[in-house]
Amino acid sequence: MAEGLLSLCLLVVVVFPAVLASRQPHIVVILADDFGWYDVGYHGAEIKTPNLDKLSAAGVRLENYYVQPICTPSRNQLMTGRYQIHTGMQHGLIEPCQPYCVPLDEKLLPQLLKEAGYATHMVGKWHLGMYKKDCLPTRRGFDSYFGYLTGSEDYYTHVRCNHVPGADLTRCALDLREQEEVAAGYKGQYSTELFGERATRIIAKHNPEKPLFLYLALQAVHGPLQVPEHYEAPYAFIEDPRRRAYAGMVSAMDEAVGNISSALRQTGLWDNTVLVFSTDNGGQTLSGGSNWPLRGRKGSLWEGGVRGVGFVSGPLLKQAGTATRELIHVSDWLPTLVGLAGGSLNGTKPLDGFDVWNAISKGSASPRLELLHNIDPRYHDIAPCSGWNRDLASSQGVSADLWQWSGFNVSVHAAIRSSKWKLLTGYPGCDSWFPRPGHNDSDPRLSKDVAPPPLKAVRLFDVENDPQERNEVSDRFPEVVEYLLRRLHHHQQSALPINFPKDDKRCDPGPSGAWGPWA
Ligand SMILES: *[C@@H]1O[C@H](CO)[C@@H](O)[C@H](O)[C@H]1NC(C)=O
Ligand SMILES: *[C@@H]1O[C@H](CO)[C@@H](O)[C@H](O)[C@H]1NC(C)=O
Repeated sequence: MAEGLLSLCLLVVVVFPAVLASRQPHIVVILADDFGWYDVGYHGAEIKTPNLDKLSAAGVRLENYYVQPICTPSRNQLMTGRYQIHTGMQHGLIEPCQPYCVPLDEKLLPQLLKEAGYATHMVGKWHLGMYKKDCLPTRRGFDSYFGYLTGSEDYYTHVRCNHVPGADLTRCALDLREQEEVAAGYKGQYSTELFGERATRIIAKHNPEKPLFLYLALQAVHGPLQVPEHYEAPYAFIEDPRRRAYAGMVSAMDEAVGNISSALRQTGLWDNTVLVFSTDNGGQTLSGGSNWPLRGRKGSLWEGGVRGVGFVSGPLLKQAGTATRELIHVSDWLPTLVGLAGGSLNGTKPLDGFDVWNAISKGSASPRLELLHNIDPRYHDIAPCSGWNRDLASSQGVSADLWQWSGFNVSVHAAIRSSKWKLLTGYPGCDSWFPRPGHNDSDPRLSKDVAPPPLKAVRLFDVENDPQERNEVSDRFPEVVEYLLRRLHHHQQSALPINFPKDDKRCDPGPSGAWGPWA
């Protein structure tokens, strides 16, 4: 009897790891590029996104979810679970000829999942550096890779044009790779379909016994505005041609996501899948995107730049069919997904992300109480948007003196969030409110009749009650300002020096080459 029990115990002990392993969920992360806050059907857009609406309605919509204002930084934080200031990448994004990448001593999400037993696949946009081979996705944890290493290329030719220093010419060259090799055979295939189909093929071929990590970083819906006619046709009613093309691109993306969820269901993987959908940053209003009613756009630290469309779907969610207003950030995925995988964080550097699974799945309070949006002493706007900006910028030298006691240089571009409060210093980037697409309400401050409010170097908003950042309240809550400036000062002390090297002319792939490692 006792012996029987003992062997039963042994049996349990021996079998347990195998049971655990078989229950590790499949993880699918779909990252859209430049997808605006307003531009998903469930935020009221005139654009149809039936698949995103349906998947998110059956999952959990993240309505207080943040990303970084531009491409490389969001992807960097997704992959490392760490703020940009901690990788020296707080400034800008990686241009094709810049010789740097996410530091090689950072352990990335796919490496951690691979160690936890996952098959790891990536399709689409990398943009985390490629000047040498050690920077490539296949050397950083992905078993397979099919995609492009930079950004902004043509959707059909997969060619990216970029200025080459020294050579002093604009080089247009292919940027598409299969594993580490140049993939030349895909000219003419629209990338949303190309990458969507590649992802569904990976799902179809996957051995369901092994946990899957699939990271699909779509080119959609970043410029250039290119889309097959049949996706754009339903939007003939949209007058603005950029918005119309963008709408078609969103529809193509929505269809690709629908295809992926169908593939997951057909293969039976869905029953044990966690699917994350996220944008990488706010929409680019210059390329048809909209973040209405939020202020600013891609590239700025206003809500329009950093509040992201995001949701989680799949049968493992305990409270499906809900929306959460808990504070969640793109750096939280690494600890959250590694936690779901039953993996170990061994080898990571101190994380800025939190495991937010209970907040998403069960509606518990988020462990994240604060969010550093960024501190970038070298910031300059990628696309200034009005005369207003110049006034604000020139005011900084004057009013900055008032805040010297804090230890934080308030002329520096920075923003931080704590509970409902958001503090911005320096010039946050394009600060307009753009009209709702199809409506002609515009920024009242741009009207000649409205005198601009006093200019300040430090701005405080209650973004929970004022998500449009219209009522600046630093005068009314000086103690909140003081606290948040001290927090910025604290964070700045832990920042690495900015790593933003000059272009290296050896990047030139030559007339018949492809962008890729040169060092
Ligand atoms: C979705 O799948 C259908 C059927 O296979 C295919 O015709 C279509 O091109 C796919 N759409 C995208 C965007 O990949
Ligand atoms: C942690 O990782 C290091 C290498 O990154 C390895 O040598 C060590 O064995 C790991 N420890 C555990 C407990 O897995």
